[in-house]
Amino acid sequence: MSRIVGIDLGTSTSEIACIFDGTPKLIPNTRGHLVTPSVVHIGEDGGIVVGEDAAEYLFTRPDCTFMEIKRLTGSGERLRAHGKEYSPEEIQAMLLRYLVSCAETSLNETIDRAVITVPAYFTDVQRRATTKAGELAGLRVERIINEPTAAALDYGLSNLRECKNVLVYDLGGGTLDITVLELFEGVIDVKASRGNNRLGGKDFDEIIMHKLMEAELSSDILSGDISSGDILSQESPLSDKRALMRLKKAAEDCKISLSSHEEYRFSLPFLFSAGDGKPVSIERTVTRTEFDAWVREKVVSTKEPMMTALQDAKLSPEDLNVILLVGGSTRIPCVKALVAETLSAIPQSLVDPDLTVARGAAIQAGLLEGSLSEADLVLTDVCPYTLGIAALHRGVYDDRMIFDPIIPRNTTIPTERSKLYHPAVDYQTTARIEAYQGDSSNPENNERLGDVLLTGIPPARHGKEPIEVTFSYDINGILQVKAAVVSTGRAVSAEISTTGVKAMPVLDLRKWEKAEGAKRCRPLIRKAEKAIARGDDLSDDLQILIDQLKEALLLKNEEQAEEIRALLLGVLEELT
Ligand SMILES: Nc1ncnc2c1ncn2[C@@H]1O[C@H](COP(=O)(O)OP(=O)(O)OP(=O)(O)O)[C@@H](O)[C@H]1O
Ligand SMILES: [Mg+2]
Repeated sequence: MSRIVGIDLGTSTSEIACIFDGTPKLIPNTRGHLVTPSVVHIGEDGGIVVGEDAAEYLFTRPDCTFMEIKRLTGSGERLRAHGKEYSPEEIQAMLLRYLVSCAETSLNETIDRAVITVPAYFTDVQRRATTKAGELAGLRVERIINEPTAAALDYGLSNLRECKNVLVYDLGGGTLDITVLELFEGVIDVKASRGNNRLGGKDFDEIIMHKLMEAELSSDILSGDISSGDILSQESPLSDKRALMRLKKAAEDCKISLSSHEEYRFSLPFLFSAGDGKPVSIERTVTRTEFDAWVREKVVSTKEPMMTALQDAKLSPEDLNVILLVGGSTRIPCVKALVAETLSAIPQSLVDPDLTVARGAAIQAGLLEGSLSEADLVLTDVCPYTLGIAALHRGVYDDRMIFDPIIPRNTTIPTERSKLYHPAVDYQTTARIEAYQGDSSNPENNERLGDVLLTGIPPARHGKEPIEVTFSYDINGILQVKAAVVSTGRAVSAEISTTGVKAMPVLDLRKWEKAEGAKRCRPLIRKAEKAIARGDDLSDDLQILIDQLKEALLLKNEEQAEEIRALLLGVLEELT
């Protein structure tokens, strides 16, 4: 069998590695570098240039040069160059092809199998899209593994005798991943993962760009909302992509420099022309203190996933023995400080933040190809999301759609779970099974993943004909949904796919009283809770309504809160 390579396909940079003599080794690109910028340029003649060579075209031909494409993985967006359209996966495939060709040259052999890493918090759709990119590059994708898990494999291989609780904090160019795991003599047991697929160094660059421009121009020119993503793609008089590329490069240089210096001087003469045709230059100094204040909100937002991952792993910060910092953005002093403050421990440099993920991918490849022994290193991973379906709860007073979890978040994978449901209506012959991802009891507040339609259900009174719904989540993090009529065995199944699924926040219902409008609902909620405590018949109904009301308050969804409040009032009146 041929060799398997490990690839870290990053937002900003990508790396490729494989196992040599029992240890992971990074393979250099054509320029002799271990780290390759994730940039692809498509020439007029269709010729493809990747990496450092492509990065040079960002300034001269930004119209046909692509960067940070990972953000678009699975989005269905189309990219254009020379009048031709490309999917993000096709561009990713060009990047993969280049990395593999570097390895082929270096190893002097053909390579057609790979392990590719993805953020732990990547959704099912994004994982499928990554696999697709690998296939388009002519590779058999043997495994998709989570980036922080890869880092843990790398650490685990060099610390085989250790028994430790580890937190991996991975902040790269485009994504944040937090993973808590237990390392026990070579067994890596992932306990929990949380993250944000839209947070990374790229966002810090854009904040700097925005702040600089804000100072130069009137605010109406800059209508772009940083938090929504790419100001480069905003419609604005700043359509001069070359100028924006110069600005972006300077912003990134500034950010990187401020990791080791107290200030950075921008000198961007004649950057672009303002509306009146006058040239605008940027000459100013930015201090680390200023930068810290600009990015503070985003950096602090990484605290919640750290705490949630710890809670899900049933650990507190004191239980942690090792904190692994992964990704280029963990070099930022205020990021390190936040991790230290949140976990009450100073993270040490235990792995190479740039190379560890690719090394881990190579280790996984080695385990698969047999060049490393599975007896030494065993890995279990989790599904970071709660997955389930929308089901009708038939209350005594009222019927309500609820989200019914089938696979709770942080279940060890692969996993297959089934539950029985009944058609809600008499003589119903079809049922649409809608899959959702999230932690809200109200499906509306979760992300809809897709559906399968089960037909041919034998007509019967409601509640008589059970339907079995099975969710299978495989080792690559891909979900399959199956629905079957129990009595006849008739079944449908689908790989659930959708576009643009985003991570939903986990709400702490205990904090509902702090929400706006909570005061008005308090007496009602108290009354309902008392009824439940008395063991009232309608307890189930009441609990669903209480949870959904608290959630609506926390989500500031007034309309929803009002509707549920009225329902709750109705149920309570029924009781008296
Ligand atoms: N010294 C530094 N100080 C601050 N930021 C840095 C430093 N070095 C690199 N970065 C930033 O780190 C990011 C790239 O990190 P990395 O290569 O780990 O990301 P990636 O793997 O491409 O992204 P992701 O894992 O999110 O897909 C870029 O935003 C880069 O500007
Ligand atoms: Mg990375």
